[in-house]
Amino acid sequence: MEKLIVANWKMNPEDVSKAREIAFFSDQGGVILCPPVIFLNEVKKEIKKATIGAQDVFWERKGSFTGETSALMLKNIGCKYVIIGHSERRRNLKEDNSIIEKKMKALIEEGITPILCIGETREERDKKEAEKIVAEQLSIIPKSTEVIIAYEPVWAIGSGDSCDWELAKEMRSFISDSFKGRFSKILYGGSVNSENCSDYLEKSLFDGLLVGSASLDHQEFKKIIEKALN
Ligand code: PGA
Repeated sequence: MEKLIVANWKMNPEDVSKAREIAFFSDQGGVILCPPVIFLNEVKKEIKKATIGAQDVFWERKGSFTGETSALMLKNIGCKYVIIGHSERRRNLKEDNSIIEKKMKALIEEGITPILCIGETREERDKKEAEKIVAEQLSIIPKSTEVIIAYEPVWAIGSGDSCDWELAKEMRSFISDSFKGRFSKILYGGSVNSENCSDYLEKSLFDGLLVGSASLDHQEFKKIIEKALN
């Protein structure tokens, strides 16, 4: 199966010339660049082989929803993929599974592939609730649809403290056994770098990676691309 690398730029960089530069150096087939929406158009112009995606969406199609971006707008600008349910949004904006479900439906209606982020916190893992939490987060996927799942243990995100590949592999097996037919790929995310990326792909058997901070450093990201996609 072809591997996929999703670059989640989060709220970076601070201006369009830097966005263009990062995009230029990240332009590879199999790479989905998810910049802030304000840079989508410029990033799109900069790339030939990579694809653009977004980091979030609103669930309504149009109307009085200040500050929001619809799935239709994202489709019209060329997004084929949109991240939903990222743990930073679950935490900072109190997005719960029912909100994320509405976003997923809106994307599916427009023919955009959702990249659904799931994952347990350290406390939930310590309480042996990791599988239960992940199963609840996955239960919102409609029966006959295939989405991309990104398993991102919350403690591993942005911390430099990546998840042990064996632990990640156990969760990958749990997801694929319990949710057969409801995903096309399962990605790993959380402090991925050029040193650990091969472990998740080769040993934990993930179908790709969701990369945050390392995707902004073009030398590091190039190394990840080389290891993961070649
Ligand atoms: P990180 O972010 O690679 O910086 O840990 C991953 C993510 O939040 O998706």
